[in-house]
Amino acid sequence: MNFDPSTLTVHPYAPHHRPELHFAPEKNWINDPNGLIFMNGQYHLFFQHNPFGTDWGHMSWGHAVSRDLLHWKELPVALPEDDEAMIFSGCCVLDFQNTSGLGTLEHPPLIALYTAHHDQTGLQTQNLAYSLDEGQNWAKYGVVLDEGIRDFRDPKVFWHESTQRWIMAVVLAEHRQVALYASLDLKSWEKQSTFGPAGHTGGIWEVPELLELQDDAGQSHWVVKVDLNPGGPQGGSGCQYFVGQFDGQTFTPTQKARWLDYGKDFYAAITFANLEGRTVWLAWMNNWQYARTHTTGQYSGNMSLPRELYLLNTSEGLVLAQTPIRELDGLWEPIEVPSETQLRAVQHKDLLALKKAVLDLHVQMNSTDQSVYGLVLHCAGQLEWALEFDHLNHTLTLTRQGTVDEEGFQGQHTAPMVSMGVQDVRLILDHSSLEVFVDGGKLVFTEMFFPQEGESRLSVYARSGNVSVHVLHARTPPLV
Ligand code: FRU
Repeated sequence: MNFDPSTLTVHPYAPHHRPELHFAPEKNWINDPNGLIFMNGQYHLFFQHNPFGTDWGHMSWGHAVSRDLLHWKELPVALPEDDEAMIFSGCCVLDFQNTSGLGTLEHPPLIALYTAHHDQTGLQTQNLAYSLDEGQNWAKYGVVLDEGIRDFRDPKVFWHESTQRWIMAVVLAEHRQVALYASLDLKSWEKQSTFGPAGHTGGIWEVPELLELQDDAGQSHWVVKVDLNPGGPQGGSGCQYFVGQFDGQTFTPTQKARWLDYGKDFYAAITFANLEGRTVWLAWMNNWQYARTHTTGQYSGNMSLPRELYLLNTSEGLVLAQTPIRELDGLWEPIEVPSETQLRAVQHKDLLALKKAVLDLHVQMNSTDQSVYGLVLHCAGQLEWALEFDHLNHTLTLTRQGTVDEEGFQGQHTAPMVSMGVQDVRLILDHSSLEVFVDGGKLVFTEMFFPQEGESRLSVYARSGNVSVHVLHARTPPLV
């Protein structure tokens, strides 16, 4: 990696930036979530981790567990780098039929498939490791897929019921392609097809996933999600998806690519394996544009909130919607907020004030045509961000301001706005993170911000037109 450490902006370690419900490591660097899996009542989160410092390097798999997807306990490093290779991104599956022969039918092995990045040669191979005690201890089995190439990484594997085979999606990063492989035993893999270049190709492709989802009419579809860096919607890294069909060998898109998130900080999402009845994923809440030059001192990076995925029929075709997981409901206590606030141009009214920037807010904003209005957050008197609905130009813009002045951090991040009626907005703040779900999660913004310590004030403003704000809920953790 070409990287000049003299450009590192180390922010003083600020305990008030540490999120309460988003996973952040005790110390040191993290990036992509890896090996997400649900087993015996526990969610496992493995993650790209440098156990020795706050910058990228010595890549290994860290490990954390949770029973509710919101409170995480960090465990010792699961898969450390070794003399030959760093442990890059990958996935876990429960080999429930013991196809690998590495466990038994009674005690199926937990299998990790990850990319070994060979330090001397730069070559990347797909390797297997297994655990017989739910991820506490691991044995490295070795290379299972080697094409003798670089930029071949990030395997995500699932059991394909109709062909009774394991299917792996893995990227040929520089080629902007997702390659699909199949296997009967997780140890020997046969290439089936490639997908791409397609959609957004302004950067290398990373962290792919092929998954099946039912739409809201009960019809099944396949989705390829793949990230790119750079070339994201707001500069730096970003992620896109394609809806289509999969016949057991080949993925064929039926729609054009769409962005998954219009904010700057949602990368490398993967879903939890072995989860029945719902599809949940989370991502690294960062952007490669500034991830390595910005650290909060003791640790660097956190994950997004886990989100449930839905495929919805809309006037624009099928849209992948994301909503915060239901485990969040009822977790915090309601706070006093006027249930209706009316504004006309040019007015500005405070909605609520908080001792700490932690909030779960659900509002509906109703306006006359041609209105331009928004929500704005000030922390310790400083404007951190504003979210502006523009019914004139059909856009939604998140302006991130704050005090962090690195390249790419401050700016206006705009998305096309489809729904022009009442705007349904769920907004979650967790000290240094903002996640906005508009119109039932069809439009999402994920961004970090690093406020000064002090009171946070959320206000609503109207530039033109009349606006009414109806609060459906406002919750925050009790102050201890
Ligand atoms: C994505 C990525 C992956 C790689 C890992 C290395 O953020 O670049 O492609 O496996 O991070 O840490």
